[in-house]
Amino acid sequence: MRRAVCPGSFDPLTVGHLDVLARAAGLFDEVVVAVLVNESKSSLFNVEERLEMLRRGVADLPNVSVDSFEGLLVDFCRDHDVTAIVKGVRSAVDLGYEVQMAHMNERLAAVQTVLLPTAPDLSFVASSLVKEVARFGGDVSGLVPSFVLEPLRRRLEPPAQTALSHEDAT
Ligand code: PNS
Repeated sequence: MRRAVCPGSFDPLTVGHLDVLARAAGLFDEVVVAVLVNESKSSLFNVEERLEMLRRGVADLPNVSVDSFEGLLVDFCRDHDVTAIVKGVRSAVDLGYEVQMAHMNERLAAVQTVLLPTAPDLSFVASSLVKEVARFGGDVSGLVPSFVLEPLRRRLEPPAQTALSHEDAT
């Protein structure tokens, strides 16, 4: 049986991620989506929220499961009997970074990486850009699954102004 991992931050899940997960599911017997738990990096959604988005997103892919990990990805691969890492590549910029990580993971534990070009019409979709556009009120529908739109809007809402009471104001 060939089991692969698709690692990432998924903050939040985008349609670009889902495209890569569906392609990976077609290539491997089993795919584990692994959310990186990184306390030193601030995220918009906590790990449990991101896991829940992924569970909903891959509900129609029977050979895909969802998990989280801390530390080195190669340790996760060893502990979960994973033989390949699958990553999506949107552009030449992605490619340079992904090849560097692939070489490092090969060097660390002889784990192979499969790089999948994303669908051309999704090559501009990135969680970071989605958050920036949504933060300033731009339309991100079609870039994230529909069930992510409302949590994203709520999370980016500016905190309500609390009116100063008469005592506070004096
Ligand atoms: O979605 P991202 O943030 O681009 O995903 C990056 C990720 C999680 C794949 C990468 O940071 C990673 O593998 N982190 C785990 C720590 C590790 O193994 N680092 C060495 C990578 S060569």
